[in-house]
Amino acid sequence: MTSKFALGVIGVCLLIFSTMAKAQDSQYYGSSSKVFNVMSYGAVADDKTDNSQAFLKAWNDACQWKGRSKVLIPKGTYVLNSLTFQGPCKGSTTILIKGVLKAPTDPSLFNPNTWIGFLYVSGLVVKGGGYLDGQGASAWPYNDCSKNSHCMSLPATMRFDFVTNSEIHHVKSINSKNTHFNLFACNNINMTYLSISAPANSPNTDGIKIGKSTNIKISRTIIQTGDDCISMVSGSRNIDISDVTCGPGHGISIGSLGKSPGEFVEGINVRNVTFIETQNGVRIKTWAPSLSSVASNIFFSDIHMQNVNNPIFIDQQYCPHTTCSSGKPSSQVEIKNVKFRRIWGTSSSKVAISLKCSALVPCKNVELEDINLAYHGHHGSGSATSSCSNVIGVSHGTQFPPNCIN
Ligand SMILES: *[C@@H]1O[C@H](CO)[C@@H](O)[C@H](O)[C@H]1NC(C)=O
Ligand SMILES: *[C@@H]1O[C@H](CO)[C@@H](O)[C@H](O)[C@H]1NC(C)=O
Repeated sequence: MTSKFALGVIGVCLLIFSTMAKAQDSQYYGSSSKVFNVMSYGAVADDKTDNSQAFLKAWNDACQWKGRSKVLIPKGTYVLNSLTFQGPCKGSTTILIKGVLKAPTDPSLFNPNTWIGFLYVSGLVVKGGGYLDGQGASAWPYNDCSKNSHCMSLPATMRFDFVTNSEIHHVKSINSKNTHFNLFACNNINMTYLSISAPANSPNTDGIKIGKSTNIKISRTIIQTGDDCISMVSGSRNIDISDVTCGPGHGISIGSLGKSPGEFVEGINVRNVTFIETQNGVRIKTWAPSLSSVASNIFFSDIHMQNVNNPIFIDQQYCPHTTCSSGKPSSQVEIKNVKFRRIWGTSSSKVAISLKCSALVPCKNVELEDINLAYHGHHGSGSATSSCSNVIGVSHGTQFPPNCIN
C-alpha cells in the first residue's frame, strides 16, 4: 500500500515535471534565435556566382521561423542580382552582413528600381559591418535624365517599402547606381552608424531618401555622395537627424514639393550636422509653378558649415530642367514654422543665407538665431550677405551676415 502510494506520488511528480519541461521547451524555442547561414543554402563567395536564389531561400526559412531568426552572410564577396526579401515574417529577422555584396554590372540585369529590397517586414534588423557595393560606375553613364525624359531608371541599393519597427546600423554602402537607401511608407526606423559613399559627380546618388514615412531617426552617420546626403520628400513626418557628417553632396534637403496633389512634410529636426564642401547646407525646395501643399515645423540647429555653397537656402523657384518656362511662376507650397539656430562656419558663395519664398504664399514664422557665417571663396574671404524675398519672421542673437528678415 505504501509502495503503491509512493509510486503514485512519483507518477504525479513525473507528470508535473514533464509538463513543466514541455512548457519551458516551447517557450524556449518560441523566443530562441536560430541562424540561417547563406552558405548552407548554396551561396558561393567567389565574386562571380549569382547568389540571389541562395539568399532568398535562407530568407524564406528565417522569415517562417517563429522566434528570432538571423540570416548570416559570412565574410567573403558575393555577387547578388536584384532581389526582394518579402514579409510579413513569423518572428523578427536580422540580416547579419559580414561580407561584401556586389551588384550586377551587366545592364540587362539592372532592375529599374531595386537592388536589395525589403517589403512588408516588421522587426527587421540589418547590421554586421559589411559592404553593399552598388557598382555604380557601370550604370552612371546610362543616367541622362537631365536631357532625356525617357531615361533609363536605375536601382536604389537598398529599398525599404512598408517596413516598420526596424533598425539598420553598422552597414556601409558604396557606389550606388542611384539612391543608396530609400525608405517608402515606413514607420519607426532607426538608422545609425551607417557609412555611405559615392563620388561627388555621380548622378542622383542620394544618401538616404525618405518619402511617406514617419518616426525615422538617423544618427552617427557619414555621407559622402553625388546628390543629397538626406532627402525628405512628400509625406515625411517626425524625422530626427543628428550627429551626421555630409560632404561631398548636395546637403540635407526637404522637397522638392508641389508636384503632386496632397503633399506635405512636417516635423523635421536636424541637429549637430557638419557639412563639408557641399553644394547646399540645409535646404527646402519647392517647384515653381506648383500645386498647393505645406511644409511645417522644421528645425535646424547646431550646424557647422565648411565651405558650403548655399549654407541656408529656401528655394521656392526650383526648376532645374530646361522644360520650365522662362518667366517667374510662383509656388503654392506654404512654408511655415522654420527655425535656424546656431549655424556657423564658412560659405563658398557670397550669399550665405538665401530665403526665396513664394510671392503667392510667403514663408511664415521663420526664425534665425545665432548665425555666424563668413564668406570664404575663390575671390578671397570676408563678410557674407543674405537675401530674402517674401519672408515673415524674426531673428535673435548674433547675425552674421546681417539678416534680411528684419
Ligand atoms: C529607435 O530609437 C528610439 C530612441 O532613441 C526608441 O525609442 C525606439 O524604440 C527605437 N526603435 C527601434 C525600432 O529600435
Ligand atoms: C556631434 O556629432 C559628432 C559626430 O558627427 C559627435 O562625435 C559629437 O559627439 C556630437 N556632439 C554632440 C554634442 O552630440
